[in-house]
Amino acid sequence: MKKPDFHAFYQNLWSDRWASLESALKRDASWVAVIICPDGTDSAEGARQLSQVQAASIACWKLRSDLTDEIYVLPHNSIKAEDLANLTVYFLDPASVVVALCLVFAASPPLDDGGPRRYLIDLCAAPGGKSILLRSYLNSVWRMVFNERSDSRRGRLKRNLENFFKADQFSVTGHDSRQWCLHEKGVADAILLDAPCSSEKHVLENSKEFQKWSVSRSSRIQTDQWSMLASSLQVVKPGGLVMYSTCSVHEGENDQLVERALTSKKLKCEVVGGIEELLNQVRVDSKAVSYLKHPTELIEKTKFGYQILPDRTGVGPIYFSLIRRTT
Ligand SMILES: C[S@@+](CC[C@H](N)C(=O)[O-])C[C@H]1O[C@@H](n2cnc3c(N)ncnc32)[C@H](O)[C@@H]1O
Repeated sequence: MKKPDFHAFYQNLWSDRWASLESALKRDASWVAVIICPDGTDSAEGARQLSQVQAASIACWKLRSDLTDEIYVLPHNSIKAEDLANLTVYFLDPASVVVALCLVFAASPPLDDGGPRRYLIDLCAAPGGKSILLRSYLNSVWRMVFNERSDSRRGRLKRNLENFFKADQFSVTGHDSRQWCLHEKGVADAILLDAPCSSEKHVLENSKEFQKWSVSRSSRIQTDQWSMLASSLQVVKPGGLVMYSTCSVHEGENDQLVERALTSKKLKCEVVGGIEELLNQVRVDSKAVSYLKHPTELIEKTKFGYQILPDRTGVGPIYFSLIRRTT
């Protein structure tokens, strides 16, 4: 059954593009990215399974790092988690990889200059795909706190992180990210705010969620997102970075929210440019050249950030904007 409000609402936002975007949102992603913990490849069976991943991949995104060097990009469902029991793997949407990598590249260096440790907070972290990437690719100069308010989701986040890292490499907290600035101000060097959102893909795939959707629900979500973003911009130090992202295709949860931050009298911030140059650090090893996509080919510019949408790329949706607190 169709819910007229939803379709009319998004048709109005997206005009001619809505029909193709809607059908792409209903499809499974065509790619999945997999992160593999190198420690998991010790056994002969692990090595065999890793070669299976390498053979199935359409591309491999190579990054500079001491810990792990590669992220494999696979066709969706080409390989199953249960066939990889001897590896520590995490499957996620390549669009999420792009967002986490942008923050990694923007935040590094610093090299270990003997100064105080840098502090990163992942404010809405569960189930933890982006957290795993951040912890893997930012060096030990960074102290990392992964926060998740929901008890059950925080348990899952913890288990996922423990699969990859030693307990002294991260901490997990359960605070309300909307109120973080009441407890800490001007302390963090970087924040990932991967905010809860309307998640229209989920709404279209799940009839219960579809019934719950309403314009006023999205407005309530925007109120929470704004509290989180305004809080984040006070929790980072002047010069610190906030990566704001959602998987919504509603501009009220994306560009309009960032615009509100940029024009706020209280918050002093600017959008960080040069995202393409940051992503150019990724090298792509293509297994099937015709199917190659470099991260810079996935992103589409919006007024204050970028989006990766499934109608044009087969992955996403995701919106992100990298914001710097100026004073
Ligand atoms: C989009 S998901 C995060 C996905 C995650 N970053 C990843 O890459 O796997 C948003 C998360 O925020 C959590 N959340 C919602 N409201 C929150 C709040 N006020 N404080 C902290 N976390 C919250 C949700 O439970 C959900 O797990």
